[in-house]
Amino acid sequence: MNRIRNLKVTVFGGTGFLGRHLIKHLCDNECIVKVPTRNVAKGYFLQPLGDVGQINLIKFNLNDKIKLKNIIKNSDIVINLIGILYEKKKNDFLEVHYNFVKQIADNIKLYKKSFIQISSLGVNRDKNSLYSKSKFSADEYIKKNLKNFIIVRPSLIFGPEDNFFNKFANMSLFSPSLPLVMGGKTKFQPIYVEDVCKGIMAILKKNIKNKVFEFGGPGIFTFKELMQVLLKVINRKRLLIYIPKKLAILMAKFFQILPKPLLTVDQIKLLENDNLVLENKYNLEYLDINPIAFELVIPDYLKRFKKY
Ligand SMILES: NC(=O)c1ccc[n+]([C@@H]2O[C@H](COP(=O)([O-])OP(=O)(O)OC[C@H]3O[C@@H](n4cnc5c(N)ncnc54)[C@H](OP(=O)(O)O)[C@@H]3O)[C@@H](O)[C@H]2O)c1
Repeated sequence: MNRIRNLKVTVFGGTGFLGRHLIKHLCDNECIVKVPTRNVAKGYFLQPLGDVGQINLIKFNLNDKIKLKNIIKNSDIVINLIGILYEKKKNDFLEVHYNFVKQIADNIKLYKKSFIQISSLGVNRDKNSLYSKSKFSADEYIKKNLKNFIIVRPSLIFGPEDNFFNKFANMSLFSPSLPLVMGGKTKFQPIYVEDVCKGIMAILKKNIKNKVFEFGGPGIFTFKELMQVLLKVINRKRLLIYIPKKLAILMAKFFQILPKPLLTVDQIKLLENDNLVLENKYNLEYLDINPIAFELVIPDYLKRFKKY
């Protein structure tokens, strides 16, 4: 029997990269999905992922406190995928990663619902970056206050619409070089977006509670190695240029002024630590999931960048 069939699942941040894949899984498992979003029209593309009426888009802003209460009251499970990579005027880490999650958690407690928070790998170890500190504070608040929670901390997620391989593949189209901040020595364990979804679905189906999961892919690669594989896949030769930390910070200070910064000072701080699954026994293996290697998947969705 499918225990999540007909459950009302609310996905905050459901219009994003991970969201669109997760919503497909939820629909395939006959859940009723609500997606609060700042821009309902932007979410229409989700509709074909479910049956007629299975996905409901709701106009929502982070400061809609009454709406948030009602949404959670009328849900069985709440999943939060809202996250930002850089701060802009009204979009600061504290507001988006901590204050909003705190509000969700308080309502989850009040109405006795289940909550899955998507955090990020390494937030418990990166002590300098505001991105990590804000996510870690939210994780701690959840752990302290809820009895029915799951926190998932994924490494770098790859997949057709990712913001990593697509970004650097695109950069290689117009730039003769790709940057290696601090030599590109930071290690990652890239995880396929479908494997993250399988993990979340397994947690829901097995009704696992009160655990912090770390999700990483099968291989460990430095940033430099990721760039080398990427260039091989798209059959392009580009110089990989070592950018010392001081220069990277200078460049990031300039980029930060742009609407969608390529690099920020906070992201440089994140690169100071490896992004790896450590001794935590709550991982994909625990859920009987064998994650797929990125080298096997990226050639398929990066074809448009390939030089023939
Ligand atoms: N992608 C990765 O490699 C990766 C790795 C580790 C952890 N994570 C975490 O996984 C989660 C999902 O990642 P993702 O890559 O799917 O993110 P994403 O594509 O950037 O989507 C995030 C969604 O959050 C909503 N959002 C962003 N800023 C908001 C704001 N200020 N107010 C309200 N809503 C806002 C947006 O929804 P609307 O525009 O519809 O409102 C957006 O669709 C995030 O928490 C991220 O930190 C991602």
